[in-house]
Amino acid sequence: MNQWNQLTDIFSCNCSENTIPECAADNICIAWPSIISCIDQAFTGQNRRKALDFGCGGGLFCRKLYELGFTVTGYDQAEELVKAARLNNPEGVTITNSYAMAAENGKYDLITSIMVFQFIADIETTIQKIIPLLQPNGLIIFAVFNPEFIEENSDSEVFSGFNQKQSGYMELKKGVKVEVYNRTEADYRTIFNKFGWQEVFLDYPAFTEEFLARYQMPFATNKPEYLIQAFKNNNL
Ligand SMILES: C[S@@+](CC[C@H](N)C(=O)[O-])C[C@H]1O[C@@H](n2cnc3c(N)ncnc32)[C@H](O)[C@@H]1O
Repeated sequence: MNQWNQLTDIFSCNCSENTIPECAADNICIAWPSIISCIDQAFTGQNRRKALDFGCGGGLFCRKLYELGFTVTGYDQAEELVKAARLNNPEGVTITNSYAMAAENGKYDLITSIMVFQFIADIETTIQKIIPLLQPNGLIIFAVFNPEFIEENSDSEVFSGFNQKQSGYMELKKGVKVEVYNRTEADYRTIFNKFGWQEVFLDYPAFTEEFLARYQMPFATNKPEYLIQAFKNNNL
């Protein structure tokens, strides 16, 4: 059974009201604005066509992409999260756990992937598989854990087993330990460069005082939680 199904309550926070669900507050308030600023720079209006959210979880960012004017496909391997993502999205958004269907939906102008790559062991193969789904001049943007944030939290209730190693565990719910592969911006740059893709955006958005006054996080927040990078292939 896919481990992520056991975390459906955390990643499928109901967002039917227009409020920010507590369980996704750091993602929505800290990572999203950085990702959206990059999307706004790259897509100024008419070119907001097809977007794929790879590892869409409960589908909150699919809904945001739809509101931003994209035709959206959300793909995730976990069946229970896919069900939740369907409930969280309007009918016009396609949510699937079939990679073949996500690939068939055509060449995308934008691929987003928020907090997914660090859970994939063979990330090079995955990146090699998904970048051909982009149009020439398409953009891929992703968020992963900032390695300094993992280091700061490496012996906490949530993160364990890193001990200077490249992988360890994240335990958001007692008994459900998910393996995390801690990679740096240089690691991702090396992979994308190998396939001829160049970095066009890099950000480590910090926790703001306003956010920390409002939300309690179950980990230390001195270091930015997210590493956000975007790549393009200008040679296509
Ligand atoms: C931390 S959740 C993030 C979900 C969502 N992107 C968000 O920001 O809330 C990680 C997601 O990655 C998905 N995932 C993990 N490995 C994957 C893979 N190889 N292919 C597609 N999705 C994957 C999981 O099913 C889970 O929904």
